[in-house]
Amino acid sequence: MVVLLLGNGGREHAMAWKIKQSPVCSQLYILPGNAGTANLGKNVNLSLNNFEGIASFVQENGIEMVVVGPEVPLVEGIYDFFRNHPALQDVMVIGPSRAGAQLEGSKAFAKAFMDEFGIPTASWRRFGQHQLEEGLDYIAAQTPPVVLKADGLAAGKGVLICASVAEAKKEFEAMLSGKFGDAGQTIVIEQFLSGREFSVFALTDGKNYQLLPVAKDYKRIGEGDTGLNTGGMGSVSPVSFVDEAMMKRVEEHIVKPTIEGIKQRNYDYKGFVFFGLIEVNGAPYVIEYNCRMGDPETQSVLPRIKTDLLELFRATWEGRLSEMSIETDPMAAATVILVAGGYPEAYDKGNVMHFKPVPEEVLLFHAGTRTLENHILTDGGRVLAVTARGKDYKEALEKCYANVDCIQFEKKYFRRDIGFDL
Ligand code: AMP
Ligand code: GLY
Repeated sequence: MVVLLLGNGGREHAMAWKIKQSPVCSQLYILPGNAGTANLGKNVNLSLNNFEGIASFVQENGIEMVVVGPEVPLVEGIYDFFRNHPALQDVMVIGPSRAGAQLEGSKAFAKAFMDEFGIPTASWRRFGQHQLEEGLDYIAAQTPPVVLKADGLAAGKGVLICASVAEAKKEFEAMLSGKFGDAGQTIVIEQFLSGREFSVFALTDGKNYQLLPVAKDYKRIGEGDTGLNTGGMGSVSPVSFVDEAMMKRVEEHIVKPTIEGIKQRNYDYKGFVFFGLIEVNGAPYVIEYNCRMGDPETQSVLPRIKTDLLELFRATWEGRLSEMSIETDPMAAATVILVAGGYPEAYDKGNVMHFKPVPEEVLLFHAGTRTLENHILTDGGRVLAVTARGKDYKEALEKCYANVDCIQFEKKYFRRDIGFDL
């Protein structure tokens, strides 16, 4: 099978690594890819928002399956674009339709969906451009902290947790006046939930689903979960506090009703559902949905899956996911992200990277890197993921940390405490 993978992050490098292991894979292209994916297939120098260009590439290169990594093209309707393109009817596309991707593309949509299908989540209300006064009154009646969310996609930065009513009012006004651009035209204000977060992933064909290994990511830039939110500074899988009983609750109260909702609303959905969950007094609640895999969870989840990913994707496309099962490796996996100093605020790009060999069992997944002549340069805030397996998460993390210094670049930063709370 000739496969085109869309994206350029650590998630996509990990997916490329896994897809490449499939005996079914005859050729792999990654668009646009990074310096790491170039070793697994051919990188394609096109922009992810150039749907016409991608369609031409697919036709010219006999692509049989397109796997969509990131959320932006999904929310912009790349699935529908392929489905409606007369020359691309036979191409399998792994990802939800635009309608299904609204679970991530609009927080208010996702909250209304959860309410309709009885899925536990924080209580909430939405406010539009002309509801400044109503919003301020609503905030005044809340017990802080108050959670404000820009409705649209904001690369993980559209959520503010305000410690006081005064701060929440100020931020609410700033959001309505364009702090997050169009993403903040509508704002969701919700109840603050306190508990332990974890990530559950399902692959669905729109009717059936299969669960992937559970994971946890570490979003804050600083040790001890302090400072600004990032795309993710590390991950572990499995998660010690998520036992079988908890997974059963998650499946019954959250996963099943979500897939049932997708089915009832007739969304064309052939891809991943990412459940961002929080455990509050023993019960799981949904913090958010994403319509794709998590980053850096993917880097810890995929090395624990024994099943052929392309066979799973093919079954997804053909609506046969109920016939499949996902075989999981009991070994744990962990990931530590190396970032450019300054991230998630201003940071340098284009610094030369130096690599020393790492043991075979350690995986390096590139995130923000590119090749220039014979050099690999940093090319993003999150630069590289160091992933390792071990008999438990501690051993996996020890192997990660034993190798973080094999990768050098100016102003490298990473958290030394991934897994600290487990
Ligand atoms: P989101 O982009 O919705 O995942 O939000 C980013 C982060 O903000 C989450 O991972 C949580 O740590 C935090 N967060 C979001 N919503 C809530 C909430 N209702 N209560 C507490 N924390 C939240
Ligand atoms: N790790 C969280 C995310 O991918 O959004």
